[in-house]
Amino acid sequence: MKRDFLHIVDFSSEEIQELLDLAVRLKKEYQEKGENPPLLKGKVLGMIFQKPSLRTRVSFDMAMRHLGGDALYLSPQEIGLGKREAISDVARVLSGYVHAIMARVFDHEHVLELARWASVPVINGLSDYNHPCQAMADALTIQEVFGKQKGLNITFVGDGNNVAVSLMHICVRLGWNFTIANPEGYDLNPRAVAQAQEIAAQTGSRLRFLRDPHEAVRDADVIYTDTWTSMGQEEEAAQREKVFPPYQVNAQLVSEARPHVIVMHCLPAHRGQELTDEVADGPHSVIFPQAHNRLHAQKAILARLFNVL
Ligand code: CP
Ligand code: NVA
Repeated sequence: MKRDFLHIVDFSSEEIQELLDLAVRLKKEYQEKGENPPLLKGKVLGMIFQKPSLRTRVSFDMAMRHLGGDALYLSPQEIGLGKREAISDVARVLSGYVHAIMARVFDHEHVLELARWASVPVINGLSDYNHPCQAMADALTIQEVFGKQKGLNITFVGDGNNVAVSLMHICVRLGWNFTIANPEGYDLNPRAVAQAQEIAAQTGSRLRFLRDPHEAVRDADVIYTDTWTSMGQEEEAAQREKVFPPYQVNAQLVSEARPHVIVMHCLPAHRGQELTDEVADGPHSVIFPQAHNRLHAQKAILARLFNVL
């Protein structure tokens, strides 16, 4: 049976850690030898994008090339997912041309529908609900800094968005404590929270849902933030810019966390809004190694879905 990569919670704690270990192995191999073996020779990843992308597009494309395969970029103008053509038809047609599909969509239901109808593996490259590939790169980065210890304190400051959902889910899978501070009206999806609570009860993670960013970062090993306005919410931008300034990750907020705290952001960053230049380019920031880890984490995901490692 084919396996998709749609949500972090679809994978057990052991499977997530195995993927991370595989990412470490592939990264080391690539850095030492300048190449990975051509495990995906002859394989093509079809990449459907309904939204813009730098990291997801380029890192998936390069991951396929490093593994000897190829990637095909399908722009928002080309497919018209669910508009020009029914998603079920797109999925069945593409399944005859490419060996796996990666999709970045607005409506989470659309990536689920693609996966239901495609006979090849489907990877979620971000939806309005979650961003599981990002969370894999985030966890890889956190383990590079702190090792595999449980009980780390990860604090997300800002909007309870797609990136926050997947981060929360990987935290509970790996036994890390997750705290979010967000303004009222911008809470995490309740279904995602319920799933996290269920997993946390088994893995011993602590979950906290706060309003005060200062309280949230106290004892933080990791401070994570993301844009106040995600793709698809552009008409709310002015309102959000009024609500979110107290949630800016700036030097003052960072100084209230543990001295060794690292600052993370999935990027693209809106410097001067959710993150100041001083923090983004300062000693606590790991935003660029984090972005680069997308490449390595996704190689592991691809190798696993293609059953070659
Ligand atoms: N972090 C991330 O997914 O970046 P892109 O939107 O550039 O792909
Ligand atoms: N939350 C952001 C993440 C971008 C990678 C968005 O959905 O636009």
